[in-house]
Amino acid sequence: MRGVVLREAGKPVEVSDELTLRPPGAGEVRVRLRAAGVCHSDLSMCEGRLPARLPLVPGHEGAGEVVELGPGVTGPPVGTHVILSWIPPCGACHLCLGGQPNLCVSVRPSGPPALRLGAEPAHAALGVGCFAEECVVDARAAIPIPDDVPFDVAAVVGCAVLTGVGAVVNTARVRPGSSVLVIGCGGVGINVLQGAALAAAAPVLAVDRVPEKLEVARGFGATHTATPDELDEVAEELTEGRGFDYAFEVVGRSQTIRQAWRATRRGGTTVVVGAGSADDMVSFSAAELFATERRLLGCLYGSGDVRTDFGRLLRLWRAGRLDLDGLISRRITLDDVGEAFTAMGSGDVIRSLVTF
Ligand code: APR
Ligand code: ZN
Ligand code: ZN
Repeated sequence: MRGVVLREAGKPVEVSDELTLRPPGAGEVRVRLRAAGVCHSDLSMCEGRLPARLPLVPGHEGAGEVVELGPGVTGPPVGTHVILSWIPPCGACHLCLGGQPNLCVSVRPSGPPALRLGAEPAHAALGVGCFAEECVVDARAAIPIPDDVPFDVAAVVGCAVLTGVGAVVNTARVRPGSSVLVIGCGGVGINVLQGAALAAAAPVLAVDRVPEKLEVARGFGATHTATPDELDEVAEELTEGRGFDYAFEVVGRSQTIRQAWRATRRGGTTVVVGAGSADDMVSFSAAELFATERRLLGCLYGSGDVRTDFGRLLRLWRAGRLDLDGLISRRITLDDVGEAFTAMGSGDVIRSLVTF
């Protein structure tokens, strides 16, 4: 089959038709991809800023159709439309049972990888590898959705939408009338803005270094916008000098985490949504932490439960409360993924979507 391959970190991706997949084993299903979004974490993996095993098939924001079940697998049945979850919940560990299935680490691939590139083993990004025609995944990573949901819309729910909206409604549990700052208005940040609108937050300040992204941000719930240079001044004005109730960092860098932190009020909360690299350290004064009772929260996959939250988000979309179609700036083929990585930095692309 065809798929996007990264052979060496920092090098461009290429498209290969020498990928093969073994049939699904016990507990696994084979899924034919129908749509896959290009997320910044894919680029970070390809650049070596997030860990990945090579050769890599990137892509972790996908939707498709179940085409084969491994031995003994009872579902989802062949033909089911699914969103791929890059953290499949085992459903039985203390984290899954305790309401934090996004932190489950129990579903691990056993045995050799399902993918091969020519004669050598290859690795699917985050266990899914959506930039290929098909993938073999744990059955618990294939989350059923209704047949009439377009695959495009379903794909973006698989990472950007759950991560962004979840950060607001699950991680922070923002209450109506709270003041919110969002730093980084890409595919994920735009969904933090949509989440803030759903939560009836106000004011909602969107910050990005690319002015065109601020334009988009207004269409997705930002009541105010600023470039990073303008942040301090606008924040002062909007919050009467107190600082924000909530600040969401959606870039994944220590510098912007510090910026978000500084912009919160006494007792305010900073939520780190961006995926940072292991060697990027953030420091805080111990005295400041104590004396101002500020809070710092990590946020993995929107603190969500894919088994219920994908459906919840799709219902909001159906009701016209979430704009998912508007997130998709352009449709591309597997051949254009490398170019889509570059386009992520530009003003006019929120999400590039690979269709198959
Ligand atoms: N200050 C403000 N905005 C910034 C800065 C900065 N210093 N650096 C980058 N940005 C903006 C970019 O202009 C862009 O609009 O952050 C946005 C990032 O958006 P995308 O590249 O579309 O990334 P996205 O897919 O939204 O992911 C954001 O979440 O899932 C993680 O790994 C992902 O860490 C990444 C983050
Ligand atoms: Zn992602
Ligand atoms: Zn579990």
